[in-house]
Amino acid sequence: MKPILVSGIQTSGRLHLGNYLGALKNFVDLQNSGKYDCYFFLADLHSLTEAFNPEDKHKQVIELAADFLAAGLDPKKSVIFQQSQVPAHTELGWIFNTITPFGELNRMTQFKEKSDAQKENANVGLLTYPTLMAADILLYDAKFVPVGDDQKQHLELTRTIARKFNAKFGETFTEPQPLFTAATRVMNLGEPERKMSKSRSHPQNVIFVDDSPEEISAKIKSAVTDSGSEVKYDIKNKPAISNLLTIYSALSGEAIPKLEKYFTGKKYSEFKVKLAELISDYFADYRKKKKLLLAKPQTLITTLKSGSAKAAKVADKKIHEVKKIIGLAI
Ligand code: AQP
Repeated sequence: MKPILVSGIQTSGRLHLGNYLGALKNFVDLQNSGKYDCYFFLADLHSLTEAFNPEDKHKQVIELAADFLAAGLDPKKSVIFQQSQVPAHTELGWIFNTITPFGELNRMTQFKEKSDAQKENANVGLLTYPTLMAADILLYDAKFVPVGDDQKQHLELTRTIARKFNAKFGETFTEPQPLFTAATRVMNLGEPERKMSKSRSHPQNVIFVDDSPEEISAKIKSAVTDSGSEVKYDIKNKPAISNLLTIYSALSGEAIPKLEKYFTGKKYSEFKVKLAELISDYFADYRKKKKLLLAKPQTLITTLKSGSAKAAKVADKKIHEVKKIIGLAI
């Protein structure tokens, strides 16, 4: 049997370069390696922790399904599903809430940042986000979880929850390991000290993967740069250029020292023109595919329903086992 791999992306807005380079690109590569049994899901329940209206939410679900397929996820190779369609996720999430100390959740960086940023909507879901995430992963006995660096702390908590449950009730869950990419934290184009984010970055500072070539060019052109004029990777003194170099390297497959050499003596503006071209070209095929997929939303819905039924089969078996172990099954 192949090791199981699980990951998801929230339906909280348009997919950006950070989500792509930190997660989705890796999902596709890992799927195509043929080495894993892959489960990829739309984390629509998690996305409810941000303010939303139902019409937009429905659109975001369809859009992210199109993103997954346009980027290369294939329902013949991976189980692609919608979190809310598999009730075992919330059931196990609740059980984990009851074994997780409040203090563990209260100290999570994402909880502090998000509840601070949305004071008018600092809901309990933000606090229990990591226990639901633990359920997403542990239900499938995942060995690997491809995520960006911002999810490292939550994954560590997932491991702690698995250990705690196993110690209390007997060996039930597999402890998962994260799989990171080289561009594990893509930064905001206007504020290179903050990560690029769907809901918390100004759209002007975010490259959305379906941006038009004109939009990409304008955004890269206005991206902040650092003092000096050398195109050089130096995260401390040149965070903005380092971020742009990381993006260039991840999309081109060229190592950063080779890029530094190539751009020696060239101005920031020349580097930016090349980078904008690279991003536009890289996503040209994706943009075409996404448009075609969105023209047939019913096909996307059918794909999600069929993937969700497959995931539910595995998840239902596990939640039944858990209920038996903790004395709830009758
Ligand atoms: N800037 C980033 N660089 C690298 N990886 C990133 N990820 C997110 N931002 C970056 C990775 O993308 C995956 C999906 O993330 P998510 O949608 O589940 O939630 P998130 O991490 O909270 O991402 P966003 O874009 O910031 O969403 P919102 O604005 O809704 O909170 C994860 O693997 C994440 O690590």
